[in-house]
Amino acid sequence: MKPEPLLDVAELSKRYVLKPQGSPVARLVRRLKKGPEAAPRLHAVDDVSFTIGRGETVGLVGESGCGKSTLVRLVARLIDANDGSIRLAGQELTHRRARDFATTPERVKIQMVFQDAGESINPRFSAFEAIADPLKRLRGLGGDALRAKVEETATRCGLPLELLPRFSHQLSGGQRARVGIARAISVEPELLILDEPTAALDVSVQVVILQLLEKLKRELGMSYLFVSHDLNVVRLLCDRVLVMYLGKIVETGPAETVFSHPRHPYTKALIAALPDANRPASERVRLAGEIASPVDPDPNTCRFVGRCPLARAECREAMPILEANSSGHAAACHFALPGKAS
Ligand SMILES: Nc1ncnc2c1ncn2[C@@H]1O[C@H](COP(=O)(O)OP(=O)(O)OP(=O)(O)O)[C@@H](O)[C@H]1O
Ligand SMILES: [Mg+2]
Repeated sequence: MKPEPLLDVAELSKRYVLKPQGSPVARLVRRLKKGPEAAPRLHAVDDVSFTIGRGETVGLVGESGCGKSTLVRLVARLIDANDGSIRLAGQELTHRRARDFATTPERVKIQMVFQDAGESINPRFSAFEAIADPLKRLRGLGGDALRAKVEETATRCGLPLELLPRFSHQLSGGQRARVGIARAISVEPELLILDEPTAALDVSVQVVILQLLEKLKRELGMSYLFVSHDLNVVRLLCDRVLVMYLGKIVETGPAETVFSHPRHPYTKALIAALPDANRPASERVRLAGEIASPVDPDPNTCRFVGRCPLARAECREAMPILEANSSGHAAACHFALPGKAS
C-alpha cells in the first residue's frame, strides 16, 4: 500500500466575485431586459488536485496571474476555498474558516515564506521579535526558552546574532529573507510553503538563500511547496513539479521527466522559452495568440486553446483532464505526447 501523503489537495477551487461591468444605468438596462444577472467570477484556482509526500519538494510554475499565489495561500489556510479539500497527514483542514485557523494547533504544521520578506515582516518588529512572534503565539514560549530558540533558529538560518535587535529597514534584502525563513521554520512546520522566496533578491544572494533552503530541508526533514518563475531553479531543487495555466494544473510529474520530456504544449513552450547558451535569443519560443479570460470561463473549453499549436475542435468541446502514465507523469491535453514510460 502507498504511504499516506503529507498533503492531499483534492478538487480545490477559488473564485473571486467581481463587480458587474458597466455603469449603473447600463446594469439597470441589462437587468430590465434580461432579468437579474450573476456577478462575474474570476476562477483563480479551478478544480486543482495534487499531493506532497513527506520530505518531498514540489515546485509550482506558471506565468504571472495563473493562480500560483492563490493556490498556495489556500493551502496555507490564509484564504478560504469555494470547493475542495485540503488534508494534512489525513486531517481535513477546510472545516475551519481561514481566520480561525490562525489559532488552531494545526497552524504550526504549515508555515509560509512570502515573496517580499520586507513587506511580510511587521516594520515595528525587530528581527528578534519577528522570529519570536510565532514561537510566542503558537508554541507559548517566553523568557529564556524563547530567547534560546530564537537564537538557535537565527544561527541555523545564517543570521548573525548581533543583527537581531535591528528592524527590517536596517537589514539587507538577503538578511531580511533569512529573517522571513527563520520566522517560518522556528515552530518546526511539517510543510513549508515558499512563494517566490528569492524573487526580490540579487542573483548572487538568490543562490545563497537557495543553498540555505536546501540545507534546512536536509536538517529538518520538512516538505516544501515551492513557487518559482525560474524553471532552472525548480529543476534543480524539486522532486516533482506542477505546471499551472489559468487556474488549472496542466502537467505534473517527476521534475526531471517533465523538463526532459514535457507532454503538454504549454510546458513545452515554457521550456523552449528558457535561455539556452546553444540557441540565439531570436530563436526562443514566444507564445502567440490570445490568453483566455479567467472570468467565467467555459467549463468545456481547454484554457490554453487560443495559444495552442495543437488546438482542434475537440479542445472547445471537452475540458481535457490530467491523465497520468505509468510513471506518474500527467498532462491535461487531448493531444498530449505519451511521455516516457517508467
Ligand atoms: N483578492 C482578489 N480579488 C480578485 N481577483 C484576485 C484576487 N487575488 C488574485 N486575483 C486574481 O487571481 C488571479 C491569480 O492571481 P495570483 O496572484 O494567484 O497569480 P500568480 O500566479 O501568483 O501571479 P504572479 O506570478 O504575478 O505572482 C489573477 O487573475 C489575479 O488578478
Ligand atoms: Mg504570485
